[in-house]
Amino acid sequence: MTPAKVALIMGSDSDLTVMEETAKILDAFEIPFDLKVISAHRTPEKLDAYCDRMIARGVQVFICGAGAAAHLAGAVAARVNVPVIGVPLENSALKGLDALLATVQMPGGVPVATMAIGKAGALNAGLLAIQILALTDEQLARRLDHYRQEQKSGIDRKNRSVQDKAKTQFHSLADDDD
Ligand code: RP5
Repeated sequence: MTPAKVALIMGSDSDLTVMEETAKILDAFEIPFDLKVISAHRTPEKLDAYCDRMIARGVQVFICGAGAAAHLAGAVAARVNVPVIGVPLENSALKGLDALLATVQMPGGVPVATMAIGKAGALNAGLLAIQILALTDEQLARRLDHYRQEQKSGIDRKNRSVQDKAKTQFHSLADDDD
């Protein structure tokens, strides 16, 4: 079995619909990852044991998605010395602002790289983990370049399509060669 390079943890099964974005991008880059539901509050002993087990297996990055009083990423960061990425989730009455503050406001000495709230944050968590792994993996770095190139081409296509539509719609649109 291929050992996991990334551990992807979420505080509840209700977090899965958003954290799937992380799983999908890791999968697209063929990064072996472990996926678990473990709660910092409801199963703290299990979380500690999991961190120790994953470190012993050579996991290089932890990604933690949690909502509300989101202490999952911080609790993992307290336990491990590899990078920890936190994704605040919009799973409460406060729409993720609570999770954002709980995840980002770590005390000095125990860093958590905190992403945006929700799906964008979950995607970026996966990409940041891939960027970390790509520092020591040239092939992965090349695939990241390709991903960025594709992203640029997508925006260029959207720009051309908006320009074409605008030309038929607005009389005062100025000419620009770009
Ligand atoms: C957090 O509380 C979880 O990460 C989840 O986002 C939120 C609600 O959890 P459930 O009550 O849906 O299990 O710990």
